[in-house]
Amino acid sequence: PRPRPLAGKRVLITAGPTHEAIDPVRYIANRSSGKQGFAIAAAAQAAGADVTLVSGPVDLRDPPGVTVIRVESARDMLHRVEAALPADIAIFAAAVADWRVANEGEQKLKKTSAGMPQLALVENPDILATISKLKENRPPLVIGFAAETEHLIDNAKAKIARKGCDWIVANDVSPATGVMGGDRNTVHLLTRDGEKINVDSTKVESWPVMTKEQVAAELVAKIA
Ligand code: C5P
Repeated sequence: PRPRPLAGKRVLITAGPTHEAIDPVRYIANRSSGKQGFAIAAAAQAAGADVTLVSGPVDLRDPPGVTVIRVESARDMLHRVEAALPADIAIFAAAVADWRVANEGEQKLKKTSAGMPQLALVENPDILATISKLKENRPPLVIGFAAETEHLIDNAKAKIARKGCDWIVANDVSPATGVMGGDRNTVHLLTRDGEKINVDSTKVESWPVMTKEQVAAELVAKIA
């Protein structure tokens, strides 16, 4: 029989982009495909975990045996993540929109002679930071992602400290890499040991380029 190193563990994963409404027919979004998060969900399920996947709008099928909760906005995602706790391991792979439109139109915005509509933006909740900083119900292992186009490792180290998570999977998403929407990923795993949120205690492991399924399998092996 296949080894099931995560048997009995509850794993909570976010994936995909979020959509932030401008009006009933328009939204702000990003290029996340959800593939990496879905691959992690499938790998965790294969390792025997009880997996809940909270996903923004993506064009992917539910991984078999995984509880999939589909959401639109960052605020919906936060609420469904909170409702899915407790978990032993939380992995935040979603590309959550940092901002939403403050003055969301109840009706479709129209072209008028009065000029361009002005979109005021307000900050969305940071789901990873919120869950990492919970006093009660904080999952014992919280893993974030850092998708950057420059200063990858430095930004990722700072992100562990700022968000309060335990590990970060850092990946370069510069357009030339083809990572956004593509099937391959080149990642660096940053791990922080112990209680101290200290940039210097962070270890960095750089993995070779692999498929998103392989990244998922390696990550699950590390967790196990
Ligand atoms: O700050 P930045 O968006 O680069 O951080 C990326 C990490 O934080 C990812 O793990 C992402 O899922 C998470 N995040 C989040 N909620 C946000 C923004 C980012 O959970 N509003």
